[in-house]
Amino acid sequence: MYKIPLIKPYLPKGTREKVLEVLDSGYLTEGPVTAEFENIIENFIGCGHVLAVTSCTTGLELALRALGIGPGNEVITADYTYPATADVIRIVGADAVIVDVSKDTMLIDYDAMEKAITPKTKAIIPVSIFGNPLDYDRLDRIREKYNLKIIEDAACALGAEYKGAKAGTQADIAVFSLHPRKFLTAGEGGLVTTNNCEWAAWMNSYKHFGMGSATTRENTGFQMIGTNYKFSNILAAVAIEQARQIDLLLERRRTLASNYIDMLGGKSGVTLPSVTEGGLHSYQTFSIFIEERDRVMKSMREMGIEVQIGTYSLHMHKAFQQPGVRLAGNFENSRYAFEHCLAIPLFHEMELEQQKTVVRELLKLL
Ligand SMILES: Cc1ncc(COP(=O)(O)O)c(C=O)c1O
Repeated sequence: MYKIPLIKPYLPKGTREKVLEVLDSGYLTEGPVTAEFENIIENFIGCGHVLAVTSCTTGLELALRALGIGPGNEVITADYTYPATADVIRIVGADAVIVDVSKDTMLIDYDAMEKAITPKTKAIIPVSIFGNPLDYDRLDRIREKYNLKIIEDAACALGAEYKGAKAGTQADIAVFSLHPRKFLTAGEGGLVTTNNCEWAAWMNSYKHFGMGSATTRENTGFQMIGTNYKFSNILAAVAIEQARQIDLLLERRRTLASNYIDMLGGKSGVTLPSVTEGGLHSYQTFSIFIEERDRVMKSMREMGIEVQIGTYSLHMHKAFQQPGVRLAGNFENSRYAFEHCLAIPLFHEMELEQQKTVVRELLKLL
């Protein structure tokens, strides 16, 4: 147990009661609480459709399948991300093309991405890493010029905005994670958003075994091959009170992040990543760049402060050194992020004193 954890899920008042209500109802699978949860998120994001699924990973796979992406197609994504982002491309049988990120934002390098496009490219999966929003002015130009689809891996970006539009409204399909490291969590789960009715209906059917009218209680026949990516009433009950308070949760994160920015900005040995111009970060993860990251990480953990690497550099892993993956770049920036990025504690109930302790110990070690 750490004195100051990296993250601590915030379960507002009413959560236990809601979970017990579901348990007592006997309706444990996907049902009305799931639908209520989806509605709250739909209103918050302002998108056409929200589908709750078992994880961000299965949601990304669902998105690729909905867009008809499979063998013979290429999908471009970023090197600096959680492996799930590229795994799903291979899972549907398409080829993954991996490009570097920008050093300052850790977001996909838009120029490298454009250079990697071939006649086989069907889609791109940019990642709004740590909650830093993507530049949709740039992405829209590329989408139109090459007639590509954008699936945003928005695992960390619930509440992030670009020029006033929330993540989940600009991509063809976007997918969020509800894993406990995310600030809105159900334990496990994902949320898929789109403004396209046909894709939403297809994904809803596919996640319900291919049913026509996609609910297990009113099955009107199986129209296609499908699977089970349903999100149970129990999980929805865990997340629903958080969803009702999402504006408050976001405001708190942004306050905590701005405390860190005030305390760490301009300090020698610390570089703060850039936020996309015109964007509003959701600060799912607060990260910094430092030299000797591993030494600092080890010492902070020994002191009871839980810190973590940012994320992974895919090209360094055997899984992505195989046929079916094209490594398009030298990944200098991704590697830099992999070696120097440090995620520091940030959670809803964190106090200013705890933030000061994190900063004091960190600066002492630099
Ligand atoms: C960028 C990114 N994509 C995808 C995932 C996978 O999400 P999930 O665990 O909900 O499948 C994660 C998980 O942390 C992530 O950070």
